[in-house]
Amino acid sequence: MRSICELPTGSALPRAARFLADLVQEPAFLGSQILPLLGEARYAKGWYVARRYDAPDGAYSLQVFVWPPGTGTRIHDHSSWGAYACAMGTVLEERYDRKDDGSVAEHARLRKAWQLRWSPKDGASTVLPGAGGIHRVGNPGEGVAVSVHLYGPRTEEIDGRDYAPSRDYVCDRTET
Ligand SMILES: [Fe+2]
Repeated sequence: MRSICELPTGSALPRAARFLADLVQEPAFLGSQILPLLGEARYAKGWYVARRYDAPDGAYSLQVFVWPPGTGTRIHDHSSWGAYACAMGTVLEERYDRKDDGSVAEHARLRKAWQLRWSPKDGASTVLPGAGGIHRVGNPGEGVAVSVHLYGPRTEEIDGRDYAPSRDYVCDRTET
């Protein structure tokens, strides 16, 4: 992971995506890291980060997200590049473009660009920092979903932002 995350973003992202796409197909990884999470997950109220491995120097962060049925994030962006792959079940990703120029503080205009369902066989999705990766991820299905995320070094002071597009409002992130 360190060798991937020390590369420039353009080289790191496809490698991170390949790494995660392969990882979620590994029976040993699924058996030791993912399957043990499923028992408690069904009873959780919201999504959560079940495992997290941070490089001491901030070069990368590997995180395992658990998505009980019907849970999902708010629309948000990120302070670093990121890639994730679904390891169990299916997650729905909705991606947004930012249509304003950022000149008005605490305001943003978003337009939905696409949505995709990601299953373990579908490879990995990638985001760039800031406006290059505004999305919402969730699990609209009836089974538990699990996804594995790799984030590169932080490039912005703010740890990502949440967006509430109905009010054209952007604010600092209050949750992961
Ligand atoms: Fe995200």
